[in-house]
Amino acid sequence: MGKLNGKVAVVTGAGKGIGAGIAAALAAEGAAVTVNYAHDAATADTVVETIRKNAGRAIAVKADVSRPDDVAALFALTREAFGPVDILVNNAGVFRFGPLESITVAEFHRHFDTNVLGTLLASQEFANQREADGGNIINITSVGVSFAQPNASLYTSTKTAQVGLTRTLSVELAPRGIRVNAIAAGLADTEGVRATGLIGTDAERALVAQIPLGRIGVPEDIGPVAAFLASDDARWITGDTLFATGGQY
Ligand SMILES: NC(=O)c1ccc[n+]([C@@H]2O[C@H](COP(=O)([O-])OP(=O)(O)OC[C@H]3O[C@@H](n4cnc5c(N)ncnc54)[C@H](OP(=O)(O)O)[C@@H]3O)[C@@H](O)[C@H]2O)c1
Repeated sequence: MGKLNGKVAVVTGAGKGIGAGIAAALAAEGAAVTVNYAHDAATADTVVETIRKNAGRAIAVKADVSRPDDVAALFALTREAFGPVDILVNNAGVFRFGPLESITVAEFHRHFDTNVLGTLLASQEFANQREADGGNIINITSVGVSFAQPNASLYTSTKTAQVGLTRTLSVELAPRGIRVNAIAAGLADTEGVRATGLIGTDAERALVAQIPLGRIGVPEDIGPVAAFLASDDARWITGDTLFATGGQY
């Protein structure tokens, strides 16, 4: 018997990377999972197939979390397939690093629209569709909120905003029994991080040297943390940010 038997989860940006790890972990604990993605149907389908092969329940739904109509459709399709959503993981996110002078208005909006507006819109839809008390929102933020890192002003601003949303919404939604927490992930080997060219460089080795457990993370390190927060084992935890960083924090 899994910790999340009978629950329904939406994981945004679950077609790859940390979101895929979270979708697999929630499904392994018995939740029916909607694997949301923005562009890449092939990787999302693979995540769904793997969950199904392991006797789990999952569907893939394309939706841009920064678009209200897409987010409404994401929840409507999930509801149609599995019933009302009990667990929302706001994982969809983008990151590009660069100095202050390289930031453009377009990049500002790409980061804030996906990472912050997306978190807000999905949380709003989640709260609106809840018929009964209870449920969980989990926001995926970053260890970067805990220290000053050059060339990360845009990304870190969005991740810090997610911590603010976590704290505020936890208080606002507590009377309805909805818990809201965040996971601050440390550097993890994902498709998105590989695209930055970091893996295998001296910069990566310097980062690993700051991680007491001696390696960077993988999506499978984060999934069980989300499953814990979504489960009744975490019933007394809300408004918190849990750092999953191999000791870096
Ligand atoms: N990896 C790390 O080191 C690390 C550390 C701390 C925190 N995080 C956070 O963890 C989350 C996932 O990071 P990752 O490294 O796993 O990223 P990733 O490998 O780049 O995967 C990102 C996922 O998000 C989806 N996505 C992007 N924009 C979207 C949108 N507008 N609507 C819906 N889905 C969207 C992508 O879908 P498509 O592929 O279809 O475009 C993809 O499935 C992010 O919030 C990131 O800030 C990552």
